[in-house]
Amino acid sequence: MKILILNGPNLNLLGKREPGIYGSRGFLDYYEELTKRYPNIEFEYYQSNIEGEMINKIHEVGFSWDGIVLNAGAYTHTSVALQDAIRGINTPVIEVHISNVHKREEFRHKSMISCACAGVICGFGLDSYRLGVEALIAMKG
Ligand code: DQA
Repeated sequence: MKILILNGPNLNLLGKREPGIYGSRGFLDYYEELTKRYPNIEFEYYQSNIEGEMINKIHEVGFSWDGIVLNAGAYTHTSVALQDAIRGINTPVIEVHISNVHKREEFRHKSMISCACAGVICGFGLDSYRLGVEALIAMKG
């Protein structure tokens, strides 16, 4: 199985950014642990602060890879273009969030991408990514 972990804007600052909400662990440290847990899965990690670069990456893997675990950051709440990109590919996308967006400001309650994704996981800290991987494995059967 080939799975892309795709992080959007400001998620390069994990570990430093609002640690009370997102924790104090850097993502690359977590990613190493995640990949070791699934030795039979081929992972790639890509992060961009630029919407168009995220869309290009979705197009690149979206017709041949088995799944995408996507934390679109704040673009979750704004991006019709990401929704269209997800609708345009065959690869299933699991939307994940570290925080429980529904416990936070009202503008975070609305996702522009959920309707195009296979499912949504939020509120489990970095473990949301592992749960996203588990969802893709379960879907593959
Ligand atoms: C986030 C939640 C978003 O509302 C926020 O803009 C982020 C991170 C999360 O993982 O909890 O950047 O996607």
